[in-house]
Amino acid sequence: MDRSVLQGRRIGLGVGGGIAAYKAAELVRALQRSGAQVRVAMTPAAAEFVGPLTFQALSGHPVLTNILDRSQEAAFGHIDFARWSELFVVAPATADLLARIVAGMGNDALAATLLAYRGTVLLAPAMNTAMWEHEATQRNLAVLAKDARYRFVGPGSGLLACGEVGSGRLSEPEQIADAAAELLGEGPLAGTRVLVTAGPTREFLDPVRFLSNPSTGKMGLAIARAARARGAQVTVVLGPVGAVDRAGLEIVDVVSAEDMRDAVLPRLEHTDVLVATAAVSDWRPAHRVDQKVKKDEAGADAPLALLRTPDVLALAAERVRGLARRPLVVGFAAETENVVENATAKLLRKGLDLIVANDVTRTDAGFGTDTNTVVIVDRAGGRLELAGTKDEVASGLWDRIQALRGAAAAAIS
Ligand code: CTP
Repeated sequence: MDRSVLQGRRIGLGVGGGIAAYKAAELVRALQRSGAQVRVAMTPAAAEFVGPLTFQALSGHPVLTNILDRSQEAAFGHIDFARWSELFVVAPATADLLARIVAGMGNDALAATLLAYRGTVLLAPAMNTAMWEHEATQRNLAVLAKDARYRFVGPGSGLLACGEVGSGRLSEPEQIADAAAELLGEGPLAGTRVLVTAGPTREFLDPVRFLSNPSTGKMGLAIARAARARGAQVTVVLGPVGAVDRAGLEIVDVVSAEDMRDAVLPRLEHTDVLVATAAVSDWRPAHRVDQKVKKDEAGADAPLALLRTPDVLALAAERVRGLARRPLVVGFAAETENVVENATAKLLRKGLDLIVANDVTRTDAGFGTDTNTVVIVDRAGGRLELAGTKDEVASGLWDRIQALRGAAAAAIS
């Protein structure tokens, strides 16, 4: 099975206390071979079967074993662990662990992490056949099976460590890795190729001076991650923003508006949705010199001649116009007055499908903030206001884009 969807993904692995715990070490390896990052949390019983050091060495991260250990909790505790994980895999999931999940208990490091975790949990049960068949276990399994958040892989049947032959055998690590890939590949945007521009551009006039703006790329990266979380394959053409979390995203680093154009245009052919959030510098110095301009030579009031940079979004929209299979094109509009009117004019002028209007004068919106308030305008004049964290706004934007794509598909068929 193709496991490329695991590339750069963050997988939390919970190891329960059973003899099959040793197989979880192979699972770490299998997930890593496909490019996933793995962090491990263990129950105290699991730590009796396999030393946490094994998992620490394999995963490259400290292992969470003790909820009451102050240094573990301070370094990367159960809440951080839960937030970090895009998918949680529990292998082996023992009868005891399944019962505690059903009961909502948080009495050890793994149970507490699972309780704090909001995403999908892939359970790989393993136990003795009698324990598997016990009515209490079956009752717990029935509860979990009804909850879409919990998914199962296995157990298989065969010879168990206890000498019995029957069901309760942990699925092979390769099968569990396949199931994880399948789950991460699911989502409303599975198979959709998304291209996002984000961050500022820098237009250098000499090796040490440039024109730019305060964009941090936060909104664009939130949009990229939200698409990734819905199963899309995402490329971000990113201006200089410093260190960012690149997990799960293909990032193409660029500096100037021209670099951004050169990175975006050839990719349009393989793009289903383009979202242009970049704060592209509209001008560049007319002359770029290779040596630092000396103050004395330039004079006190050195004039700076400027040229317009390419409008990456307008060029992209123009390039795809009229194509039978063209990407949906979404722009942003940074405005300081008459926000919706100006944004609507931009939508029509640049030939976009949607525009996200941003009032950059607000202190809780725009450059560098963690929150945003936007109005999404479509070509028919429809408006949708969204407010919240940039992650929430990103999610709302994808709901709107999905609805528009759904309507377009329905109109064609
Ligand atoms: N954009 C772009 N390339 C440029 C300028 C803008 O791709 N050279 C894109 C931005 O990423 C955004 C949209 O165009 O999606 C609108 O950007 P904005 O700065 O609001 O508008 P401008 O087109 O620059 O117009 P103005 O500065 O006059 O408001």
